[in-house]
Amino acid sequence: MTDTTSPGDATGIAAQDGAYARPAGALDLRRVGAHPDNWYPVALSSGVRGKPVAATFGGERMALYRGASGAVHALEDRCAHRQVPLSMGVVEGEALRCCYHAWAYRGDGRISQIPYLPKGVGRPPRGVRAYPVREAYGLVFVFPGDPAQAEATPLPDLPEYSSPRHRTMTYSRTVRCHYSFMHENLLDMNHQFLHRGVVGRLRPQLLGYEAGARSVEARYLFTHAGGRKNRGAGLLAAEGIGGSNSADVMTIRTEYPYQTLTLVPEKSDHPVFSLWVAYVPEDAEQRTCHVYGLLMIEKPRVPGAMRLAWPLIRRFTERVFAEDRMAVEAEQRAWDEQGEDRNHEVFPLILDVREVLRSNGVPLKPLARPCG
Ligand code: FES
Ligand SMILES: [Fe+2]
Repeated sequence: MTDTTSPGDATGIAAQDGAYARPAGALDLRRVGAHPDNWYPVALSSGVRGKPVAATFGGERMALYRGASGAVHALEDRCAHRQVPLSMGVVEGEALRCCYHAWAYRGDGRISQIPYLPKGVGRPPRGVRAYPVREAYGLVFVFPGDPAQAEATPLPDLPEYSSPRHRTMTYSRTVRCHYSFMHENLLDMNHQFLHRGVVGRLRPQLLGYEAGARSVEARYLFTHAGGRKNRGAGLLAAEGIGGSNSADVMTIRTEYPYQTLTLVPEKSDHPVFSLWVAYVPEDAEQRTCHVYGLLMIEKPRVPGAMRLAWPLIRRFTERVFAEDRMAVEAEQRAWDEQGEDRNHEVFPLILDVREVLRSNGVPLKPLARPCG
């Protein structure tokens, strides 16, 4: 990993001509798919109970269900018989039974029963694909790629999630944009103008950043330059993010395919909160992603303060998120209208994260068109 920002360079803005464009011959980033050989959350654990639920990764539809043992299984969401979604079926013990002719499937996707087929008659079809599943941090993760890679691919390590000193706020929602817009949005803190109505005038200063083959990490110093300050933001940062005399250090990291953000207030040596996010493409063209976020907040020392602060923090983060969503969805609409990426990016670390996302992703397959 190399430090790509020289000490005197506060902005990191590239000066040389030609630094703004996509590398010659490089694939348009918005046509690059998220690499399937990773663990992706596709549902909240709390949403997978007695009934099967439909989930998706990049146009691959899955049926999730929790068997009697408590384990969650993920099957291709189509019955091998007549392609009816298995997510419309019913759970029986550890099996999932299709709603139509009642074929039953094991958690490994193999057919366990065709009720009306006498024993020994014919050979049952092969069944459907099963995906490796893990449950952690209140999320159901699946491994949509090569199952042989699943075991050796680690889940994210989030010790704060189960630490008694922290409480976690969970986010789950769909945003209508390619996942790369989300990475760029969070890493480029020069967009604080967008949030001026919510957080006041925050002045971010890039302290430096490092880029590697799979990651980009940026550190910003945040100072408040006046204007409105939000109570939610203040509570979130304990002393107040951008409080009148404060200078907080925010570290944002894309480590493929996830993103994290931590905030260390001035006069502190550890983060007051950490955010972990995954952007999971939903449709085959990956122009829509599902955002799963875990905001792990250190509990204040005053008993009960967290309970009081909780709704304010929720409201503040939702307002900031709504503004970000407005911007990234507008970016996606522009891409859709123009049919290509015509951005003129001037911030080197964003050029670097684009390269990380491009080189670690996979080209999107052309869509199969229905015949007829
Ligand atoms: S379509 Fe599923 S059992 Fe017939
Ligand atoms: Fe933002």
